[in-house]
Amino acid sequence: MTYGPSAGQLVRPPEHHHDEPHVPVFVGARRDELDTIMSRYPTKMAALLPALWMVQDTHGWVSEGAVEEVAQVLDLTAAYVKGVLSFYTMYHQHPVGRHFVQVCTTTPCNVCGAEDVVHAFLEHTGCGELGLTSSDGRFTVIEVECLGACGFATPVMINNEFIESVTPERVARIVAEHD
Ligand code: FES
Repeated sequence: MTYGPSAGQLVRPPEHHHDEPHVPVFVGARRDELDTIMSRYPTKMAALLPALWMVQDTHGWVSEGAVEEVAQVLDLTAAYVKGVLSFYTMYHQHPVGRHFVQVCTTTPCNVCGAEDVVHAFLEHTGCGELGLTSSDGRFTVIEVECLGACGFATPVMINNEFIESVTPERVARIVAEHD
């Protein structure tokens, strides 16, 4: 289903991004950062989650090439890294918009109108559908389970920013504030 006049502008995650050569993350200062993290743990494997987070922080998502790089620096198999990567929903296995919008639609927020908030985001961002990226590359919108702010429906996370008590009427302004 699509919403609003932007429905014709939908784009799926650009496939060509999957073919682009991976630009290594763990060089220079970022390698030093990873070495510092690894020094806190008894094994390299224990640094896997922060290493994946560093990749996503750098490239916006975790590509197959990045999986290979992480596996190499942590002395793991790519299959193991991929298994961990696919378990945690906080990691993106495909390119997403610069602003990754997560709207809680679990029951307590749903009864307070969370679905209307989702629809407003899909319309005002131009995403049109959950999980798609707007044609300007700015937004991807998804629904998520409880964000731990049930008393402040509807809570929304945009990247690391937490916004409470979002109503459909607030959405246009929130979108405009995120270039
Ligand atoms: S149910 Fe929405 S934040 Fe808990």
